[in-house]
Amino acid sequence: MLGDREHWTNRLGFILAAAGSAVGLGNIWRFPYVTGVNGGAAFIVIYLITIIIIGYPMMVTEMALGKKTQKNPVGAFKAMAPNSPWWLVGALGVFTGFVILSYYSVVAGWSLAYIFRALAGFAPDMDFVSIFYTTIGVDIGEGPNIISPLIWHLIFMALTVGIIAAGVVKGIQRWVKILMPILLILLLILVVRAVTLPGASAGLAFYLSPDFSEVTGRTFLDAIAQSFFTLSLGMGAILTYGSYLSKETTIGDNGGWVVGLDTGIAIIAGFAIFPAVFALGMEPGAGPGLTFITLPAVFAELPGGTFFGFLFFLLLSIAALTSAISLLEVVTAWLVDEKGWARSRAAILMGVIIFLVGIPPSLGYNVLGGFSFLGMDVLDTYDWFANALFLPIGGLLTAIFVGYVWQAKKAQEFANDPPGSIRIGDWYGFLIKYIVPLAIIVVLIAGLIDTFGG
Ligand code: PHE
Repeated sequence: MLGDREHWTNRLGFILAAAGSAVGLGNIWRFPYVTGVNGGAAFIVIYLITIIIIGYPMMVTEMALGKKTQKNPVGAFKAMAPNSPWWLVGALGVFTGFVILSYYSVVAGWSLAYIFRALAGFAPDMDFVSIFYTTIGVDIGEGPNIISPLIWHLIFMALTVGIIAAGVVKGIQRWVKILMPILLILLLILVVRAVTLPGASAGLAFYLSPDFSEVTGRTFLDAIAQSFFTLSLGMGAILTYGSYLSKETTIGDNGGWVVGLDTGIAIIAGFAIFPAVFALGMEPGAGPGLTFITLPAVFAELPGGTFFGFLFFLLLSIAALTSAISLLEVVTAWLVDEKGWARSRAAILMGVIIFLVGIPPSLGYNVLGGFSFLGMDVLDTYDWFANALFLPIGGLLTAIFVGYVWQAKKAQEFANDPPGSIRIGDWYGFLIKYIVPLAIIVVLIAGLIDTFGG
């Protein structure tokens, strides 16, 4: 019995929603700069391996838990292991969604602001660092711009709440069916522009010829952390979307589509960015500033740069929005299922609280500029807790739960019913019981040593 829970009305609904969750700032902002600082193609090779042996099995695992229980993360663990503390893993997921969305929305707000910056036109003699700083609110001598980043953060949260309040089918599914095709078209236009620039080949060479001398232990850690974040794993977003799957949907195939689309789009985003960066003689290893400082400088030099800059930040904002809705959906589904709240009430109230929790990371560049946690500003601190702690811990406990409590064998049988063209074989149990937990434990410990020990 599926009861009166809403369900995706067709297979494409789930694939686009889950791919929309996966494809976000992680693909277009984070992936290129992580690749840039880790030496290009060599990183991609390692990343692809982690996606296959960790990302895909975790995707299948979360989809299966959601589809089986038809519940939000807390309810799902309660249903699978009644009267045990396992529900706390779900609770950690809901909390993580809350934290990630609060600063994700701040960065997405910068992206919205940049759409208008780009329309006004970037000029070669502009000081891009200062454009970035005024957009995010850093005081560069004319007094800090406190209000505008907060307003963009608010607008972005309001859009997210609007979609979630409208429901799974009428909100999420309806919007991803409109936004995901637009995202793909924008990305393709930008790739064609970038790779046909004179001088693009240096960027292609950097991106396509692996230099394994740049590979260190850090590269592996970055690859694993990136796979969790980019695939929306470890906090119940995929579990929650999986809970709106109906019985006849195949898990192996749909999971394959989501992982494939996310990975494909991240790699394609690299093709839009590196050739352009190199063609204009700029640095690929700029780190987090690659998107907001290096690229606007690229658009300033590029013929038609106003137009392409506009398209790029529109793309980035759309990608962020389809991810943000999945984060808010986790929190909303928990209140609706467990506390019996009306959906719109849950979405609005949580949206307001998440907006408020997002104020400190936004103010971290002016009023709270003195804040430092191990040298990180407020936004990086939130991000560190989410990515270095909550997502890996959530993923680890979920893998252990499904591997040993539900039992990998049973999860495997469930995932193969109905069977699709990708069969979940015995390799699944091996990966979920041993390889995934081991890899996450290594990442967790190394990450902590890196942060506190060094
Ligand atoms: N996957 C999203 C991205 O790449 C971020 C995200 C993480 C979304 C966790 C939902 C849950 O930007």
